[in-house]
Amino acid sequence: VKKLIIKGGQLLEGEVHISGSKNSALPIICASLLCQEFVKLFNCPDIEDVNRLLDILRELHVDIKREADYIEINSHSLKNIAINSANVSKLRASYYLMGVYLALFNHVQINMPGGCDLGSRPIDLHLKAFRLLNGKCEVNYDQVLIDSKKLKGNKIFFEIPSVGATINAMLASVFIEGKTIIENAAKEPEIIDVANFLNKMGANITGAGSCIIEINGVKRLKGTEYYVMSDRIEAGTYALMAAGRGKEVDIVNFNHKYNNGFIAKLIESNVKFKILDNKIKILSSKDILPLNLKTGYYPGFPTDLQQIYLALLTQAKGISKVQDSIYKSRFKNCYELNKMGARIIVDENVATIYGPHHLNGAEVTATDLRGGASLVLAGLMAEGTTTILNPEHIFRGYSGILEKIRKINGNITIA
Ligand code: EPU
Repeated sequence: VKKLIIKGGQLLEGEVHISGSKNSALPIICASLLCQEFVKLFNCPDIEDVNRLLDILRELHVDIKREADYIEINSHSLKNIAINSANVSKLRASYYLMGVYLALFNHVQINMPGGCDLGSRPIDLHLKAFRLLNGKCEVNYDQVLIDSKKLKGNKIFFEIPSVGATINAMLASVFIEGKTIIENAAKEPEIIDVANFLNKMGANITGAGSCIIEINGVKRLKGTEYYVMSDRIEAGTYALMAAGRGKEVDIVNFNHKYNNGFIAKLIESNVKFKILDNKIKILSSKDILPLNLKTGYYPGFPTDLQQIYLALLTQAKGISKVQDSIYKSRFKNCYELNKMGARIIVDENVATIYGPHHLNGAEVTATDLRGGASLVLAGLMAEGTTTILNPEHIFRGYSGILEKIRKINGNITIA
C-alpha cells in the first residue's frame, strides 16, 4: 500500500502540460469498438481508469497496442460475451460498453458499473434510453441484461441532462435506421468530442454540445485516427494549485473556451491570471476572496472542480459556501481538510468554509478522485508534511501527477 508524501510551502513555478481528457478518452475508447477496424487514438491520458478499461477490452478479445503517444485498438475479434471483469465494478465508464454492445450485437450482459463513491449514482436514464430504442432491460442484483430483437429510432427526453446517458444513447443509436433524437441532452464539451470522433468514423450526428442531438443511422463505421481533447478538469486542478501556492505557473493546453464557468470564479475570488493562446498563466495570488459557488450542468461550474476549489477557499479571507447540486455527497474531503486545520462545516449538500485558517501537514485519506486532488492542493499549501493514504484514487484520473508537480517545484514523493 502506497502513500503520497507532500512537504508543503514550496512556491510553484514553471509549466504544467495538461493531458488528454479522461471523461472524453474513456467513451472514445469504447466507441472505437463500433468500427471493428483499426483506430489510433492520440492524447489518451496515462491514468488508471484508462488502464482498467483497456484490461476489460483485452478480456473481450480486443487487440490493443499501447505506444508512448498513441493507443491502437482493433476490435475485429471482439466477442459477444458477458462482460464480467472485476474491473467493471471499479470503473464508472464501463457503462459505455452497454451502448456499444447493443449497437453491435443487440445484446449485452454486464456487471453494474462502479466508480467514485459520491452518493447515489443511478443508471436509470441510461436504461430508459435503451428501452426507448426498443431494448428490454433487466437488472438483477449487480447484473444488467439488455436485449433487443431490433433497435428502433425514437425521441429520447432526459429529465436530467446526464453526461453518461447522453453518450450512451448516441453510441446505441449510430446504426439504427432513420432518426434518433435526444432532447435535454447534456452539453458538456466531452460530448462534442465523442460525437466528433464518431462522425470521423462515419457516423451522422448533429447538435452535440446543444440540448438537442440528432443521430441518423449509418450502415457501418470505418477505422480512423483521432486526437482526444485536453482535460479541462485537470487544467483547473493545476490552476488552483498555482493559485494556492504559485509564483508564476503556466498551464499549457488550457482550453479557455470550455472553462468559462471556472474562469469567472477565478476572477471573483481574486486569483491573478492571464489568458494566452493555449494556456493560462496563474500569477502570485495573495488575497483570495471568499465565494458562493454552486455546481451546475455545463456551462455551469463543473462539479469535478468543486472539491479542489473548496481546498483553496480554506485560505480565502472570509466565509465561503460551496453547494453541489449534482452529487449531494461530494464532500468527504472536508473532514480530511479539517484534520489539517481547516474549518469547514458540511450540512447536506452545502459546505461552509471559514477562512483563512492556517493548514498544517497531517495524515489524511483520499476517499475519491477529486477529493484526493483537493488534499494534494492542501498539502502544497500546508506547513510541514502531509501524508495522503489511498492515493490510488488520485492515479485513476491524473496522468503523471508526481512528475508534473515536481516540475513546478512541488515536493511530492510516493512511499
Ligand atoms: N443521474 C441519474 N440517473 C442516471 C444518470 C445520472 O439520476 O441514469 C444523475 C446523477 O446522479 C447526477 C446527475 O444525473 O446527479 C448527473 O450525472 P451524469 O450522468 O452527468 O454523470 P456521470 O455520467 O455519471 C460524468 C463523469 C463524472 C462527472 C459527471 C458530471 C465520466 C466517466 N464521469 O459522470 O466524472 O462528475 O459526468 O459532469 O464521464 C470525475 O471525473 O471525477 C467524475 C466523477
